[in-house]
Amino acid sequence: MFTTALPQREKEQLGTFPLDLFTAITELKKELNAVILAHYYQEPDIQDIADYIGDSLQLARAAAETNADVIVFAGVHFMAETAKILNPDKLVLLPDLDAGCSLADTCPPQEFAAFKAAHPGHLVISYINCTAEIKAMSDIICTSSNAVKIVQQIPKEQPIIFAPDRNLGRYVMEQTGRDMVLWQGSCIVHETFSEKKIVQLKIANPEAEIIAHPECEASVLRHADYIGSTAALLKYCQDSKSSKFIVATEPGIIHQMQKVASEKQFIPAPPENNCNCNECPFMRLNTMDKLYLAMKNRTPEITMSEEIRSAALLPMQRMLEMSK
Ligand code: 13P
Ligand code: SF4
Repeated sequence: MFTTALPQREKEQLGTFPLDLFTAITELKKELNAVILAHYYQEPDIQDIADYIGDSLQLARAAAETNADVIVFAGVHFMAETAKILNPDKLVLLPDLDAGCSLADTCPPQEFAAFKAAHPGHLVISYINCTAEIKAMSDIICTSSNAVKIVQQIPKEQPIIFAPDRNLGRYVMEQTGRDMVLWQGSCIVHETFSEKKIVQLKIANPEAEIIAHPECEASVLRHADYIGSTAALLKYCQDSKSSKFIVATEPGIIHQMQKVASEKQFIPAPPENNCNCNECPFMRLNTMDKLYLAMKNRTPEITMSEEIRSAALLPMQRMLEMSK
């Protein structure tokens, strides 16, 4: 018989996981009255089973508006935390609790509190890629798609601290002409792209447009024909007359690019080393198996103290209001 010939581990897995995970997850979704929110950097199957795919701002909005009882967040920890901040009474599940973020990790709360104290009178604008503790110490949250718009709304004489991403902060300074005090954090994925290899690719593909996320370093951004959040990059590829793009962000987004513009070609920007370190190791911890298990067992759940949650809610609400 087919199953008796299988090694023990595989037999156990067959017992644990239904063969058709798509159907099983869809059934669990109904049973739990759950919504699956997925970031563009998730593996293709997760994007395909999700109820909603988006960038950080779109997913925060979807989390703020959902009527579901359970939010399954296929993304990283700070994103699921954001959903919990907005929905204290809902069960928020993250398929793998280790799905953190190198950028959020560059900004520990105690050090940030000292940094803030060293800059009295500054308004704190924090990129959503930070922990709930950092959000609770911030005045306004922003994402890569609304950071410029939010900074432009702040009176010129008001000094600003921008945290934690120095690359996005520098890009916003250039776009707005504002001086800001920058926390020196960065993302390991967006700092991995090689300027030299991108330029070589462009020489080999002169018709291709280079599109980049603002978390990339200035040395990469200066070659970009277009800079934007993941959602903005997706829209740009769809609208542009070009038929080839060199994509300088996590290549998970290419799944959606191929869906909206199947006749076009998308080349992932190469990393510095011969590795696949342009894939976010945290985002990729989520798998279909873990998604299924999280829904079946209703764990791992995102929790936080009410003190932190309510303090983090106000700057989140300001962001949603200011980016309407
Ligand atoms: P956006 O979702 O705002 O494009 O940010 C990308 C990112 O790095 C998410 O972790
Ligand atoms: Fe964090 Fe970078 Fe991964 Fe986004 S891509 S989750 S910023 S490590």
